[in-house]
Amino acid sequence: MIQAQTANSGIVGQAITYEKIPTQIYANAKDASAAVAKEIADLIRSKQKEGKPCVLGLATGSSPKTVYAQLIKMHREEGLSFKNVISFNLDEYYPMQPDSIHSYVRFMREQLFDHVDIPQENYFIPDGTVPPTMIADFAHRYDNKINAMGGIDFQLLGIGGNGHIGFNEPGSLINSRTRLMTLDHSTRAAAAMEFGGLHQVPKKAITMGVASIINAKRVVLLAWGERKAPMIKAAVEGPVTELVPASYLQAHPNVAFFVDERAANDLTRVKTPWLVDTVEWDNSMIKKAVTHLSFTLQKPILKLTTKDYNDNGMSDMLAAHGSAYDININVFNQLQHTITGWPGGKPNADDTHRPERALPAKKRVIIFSPHPDDDIISMGGTFQRLVDQGHEVHVAYQTSGNIAVADDEAFRFIDFVVDYNHKFGIESQAAMQIFNDAKAFLKQKKDSEIDTSEVRYVKGLIRRGEAKATCRFVGTEHFHFLDMPFYETGTIQKKGISEADVKIIADLIEEVKPHQIYAAGDFADPHGTHKVCWDAIEAALKQLKHKNFMKDCWVWLYRGAWAEWDIHEIEMAVPMSPDQVVKKRYGIFKHQSQKDGVVFQGEDSREFWQRAEERNSGTALLYDQLGLAEYEAMEAFVRWHF
Ligand code: F6R
Repeated sequence: MIQAQTANSGIVGQAITYEKIPTQIYANAKDASAAVAKEIADLIRSKQKEGKPCVLGLATGSSPKTVYAQLIKMHREEGLSFKNVISFNLDEYYPMQPDSIHSYVRFMREQLFDHVDIPQENYFIPDGTVPPTMIADFAHRYDNKINAMGGIDFQLLGIGGNGHIGFNEPGSLINSRTRLMTLDHSTRAAAAMEFGGLHQVPKKAITMGVASIINAKRVVLLAWGERKAPMIKAAVEGPVTELVPASYLQAHPNVAFFVDERAANDLTRVKTPWLVDTVEWDNSMIKKAVTHLSFTLQKPILKLTTKDYNDNGMSDMLAAHGSAYDININVFNQLQHTITGWPGGKPNADDTHRPERALPAKKRVIIFSPHPDDDIISMGGTFQRLVDQGHEVHVAYQTSGNIAVADDEAFRFIDFVVDYNHKFGIESQAAMQIFNDAKAFLKQKKDSEIDTSEVRYVKGLIRRGEAKATCRFVGTEHFHFLDMPFYETGTIQKKGISEADVKIIADLIEEVKPHQIYAAGDFADPHGTHKVCWDAIEAALKQLKHKNFMKDCWVWLYRGAWAEWDIHEIEMAVPMSPDQVVKKRYGIFKHQSQKDGVVFQGEDSREFWQRAEERNSGTALLYDQLGLAEYEAMEAFVRWHF
């Protein structure tokens, strides 16, 4: 853990802090959640000793799930009792039935309450069923109930991509109380994934107000992933403003943010640590600082002067590592050496300064694709080059991706099969049963229902067909559908990774004995599937690491669908010509079920091909701005080492 600094900006010992909220940065969400869960457990126990209730304010959403999982574990393994806990949830969609799969009542029961010994009469969640005319009265009574309990002892929060806390959207006042709110477009877009489309997301919610939250004796806000980084920076370092409701927490005397490294990415101490404290100027820090300086001053690297370095807090780097001229050339060359049109290595070329080895000239490659379209979205240009340059390219689709297919799309395919079989007189075959059952289910499917295994099978088949079409379009027939078990729950909530998941990956690696593995290092996907897929690959690689063939196996991580590498991290950048960009677009179009209103859009309303093109042209532009060659687009990779 990186040590947090004190709340007020100014000088702390030697280090300057820009942070106005104490912020603890952890390596990952799991470690941070364990610390938060411990704090909650300690509070519950100390209140128990005093014979008092412990009043918790609880949040829903993806962020607190790991904290709740930890609390359940403590309940089971350490006997942590919740009998003295009284809890108030922040919010609920409106209108909302409590048994709907989208209800926060159901969420809280599934994530925590049903697994611990909290009495049912002890938890309160805003009621999504009260008639409109009664909402104001309900809200008033909700606040009164909190006050009657002596106020909230510990308030847990997440933060929205727009800076909201609870559903206090930008514009909420500091003195706001529990009330009905109209949800921000970005909040609804972020929830579209859970609801199967933006049009299904409620437009309103009942939320505790900012004042109700700030009155809590202790407030802890959680944030995981780069998606949250800009708002963490704004709330922690920016001015207090109603445009970022989380910034109101700067005024709280006992608040803390617990964030993972990626959510901390935009904080000054992480982004530009040399402006905060003395840093060790190793190669990666120099690269980070020089590229940052070049972007800030909008000057190509080779034009940076001694004065530029001195004026921007980097004179000690110059003192330790030579002149601006030497540093400029050094960083420029490093960046230059990341660029290659030969991702599988250039045969018969000196590879001293190339990202990949020249030999063997023909490599066996596995591209791991968490969902059936990540390969083409994130590294379609590189995939194409690898095939064109004669490598044996296998694509391993890790999950079926079945939950991201809309019902009407499944219906269309089922109709096709039924009509086709009818025409050729094969409808009596047992296989037809699957399609008829699926059709019958979809006809009467309710909002709160999970797809039957038949429907999931059909949806999985649709995505398989699309992935195969992409592979053929690029020019390989080596596709593998791994259908990793952790994914197959039929819901957004997945199972934990198991040995079976790891074995499937390890078996394939052992079978292919690849010289190169490409895997998704983009963990910003909304449901966390990429991380689990990577965890399985990492575990498999660790199992296999002593095998002989592994000595010759390099692992490259790609990004692109949801986030991109920072420029200083990139170790291989594969350029694309305008024609290659268009070809990649057509490859992405093969995923028809994900086009035109994808089910899981996230907060970003662009389609995947648009995101990919903008990210790839954005990377090329950054290289150009640094003073390197100007390409149409670039895909970027970071090498992973054991
Ligand atoms: C949830 C809530 C929201 C979420 C926020 C972040 O009860 O009130 O403020 O905490 O939208 O959501 P996640 O954690 O899903 O990113």
